[in-house]
Amino acid sequence: MDGTDRSTLLRDLWYVALPGRKLKPGKMVAKTMLGEPVVVARRQDGSVFALRDLCPHRGVPLSFGRVVDGEVECPYHGWRFDGGGRCTLIPSLVADQDMDAGRVGVRAYPCREVQGNIWVFIPAGSDLPDPLPPIVELPGIGEASPRLVESMTFDCAMDHAVIGLMDPAHGPFVHRSWFWRSRRSIHEKAKSFGPSELGFRMIRHAPSKNARAYRILGGAVSTEIAFRLPGLRLEHVEAGRHTLCGLTALTPVDERTTEVHHAIYWTMPWLSPLIPAVRRIARTFLGQDRSMVEMQAKGLAFDPPLMLINDADVQAKWYFRLKKEFVASRVEQRDFVNPVKERVLRWRS
Ligand code: FES
Ligand SMILES: [Fe+2]
Repeated sequence: MDGTDRSTLLRDLWYVALPGRKLKPGKMVAKTMLGEPVVVARRQDGSVFALRDLCPHRGVPLSFGRVVDGEVECPYHGWRFDGGGRCTLIPSLVADQDMDAGRVGVRAYPCREVQGNIWVFIPAGSDLPDPLPPIVELPGIGEASPRLVESMTFDCAMDHAVIGLMDPAHGPFVHRSWFWRSRRSIHEKAKSFGPSELGFRMIRHAPSKNARAYRILGGAVSTEIAFRLPGLRLEHVEAGRHTLCGLTALTPVDERTTEVHHAIYWTMPWLSPLIPAVRRIARTFLGQDRSMVEMQAKGLAFDPPLMLINDADVQAKWYFRLKKEFVASRVEQRDFVNPVKERVLRWRS
């Protein structure tokens, strides 16, 4: 498949662990990210941290414990760990026993909450890059949290979830809905693409006229869609002086399962009463994509050879090239050189 190693999950990158609103103060959530057990915790003051979800004493997942005074307490023998992963208390120790709790530690992952999403940095080795790469931010919405978030688990590998996300040709077949478009509306498209940070972007354009849902936004509507490693799709719609943004963040649970977080932000106040409707649309869309990749998984179980055709699958080709270059640049300890060149892609959809 375009010279790619299908099993490569990229490390040394930030991944969305979960939407911030799913984690209340004083609580923890257990996640599996790229096959690693991770516990994400929120202190009473609202700040977040992430640790490897295994107690170094006897391997109990720390997420079964509780958050006490901004630290995590293991449910088995009450050892406590701070946000840096350092053990701060071993309750069984007697005063003259000279074991130093501070020398016991559990791996801490860099963890930050940005625009209402909790991101965890999954490192490649034991040393973290310094400085850490920035977390992508959506333009025009400040520090706002999403008006709407939908998370879904897809039973498919990261690569197929990403390709599905950027695939321009499945719309009229998979997303057939009264509010979107019908198969009859298929027509030829030509869109300009260019490189962007760790990925590529479809250069700002007026959305296609057959996309009914855009019409209600009114004003001069233009949209820019960017893809960025490891599996982030950013859509930025400008409608007059208002902004509507979408972030779709794919996070591999393991080699065969992928979590999809879809967050939508907007600045137009009159859209808020429509939240239930927008939520239904978002769920419908994601559900359609999910059932498609799950059908695909039944075929992929036989490990068939696959095809990437021009121009509809060029974005998928770019994705594999970007991944390959990302891995190569790390191995060769050099800067990432974006392999995408400016180009117009044409397809019918
Ligand atoms: S297993 Fe965690 S404190 Fe003993
Ligand atoms: Fe889709």
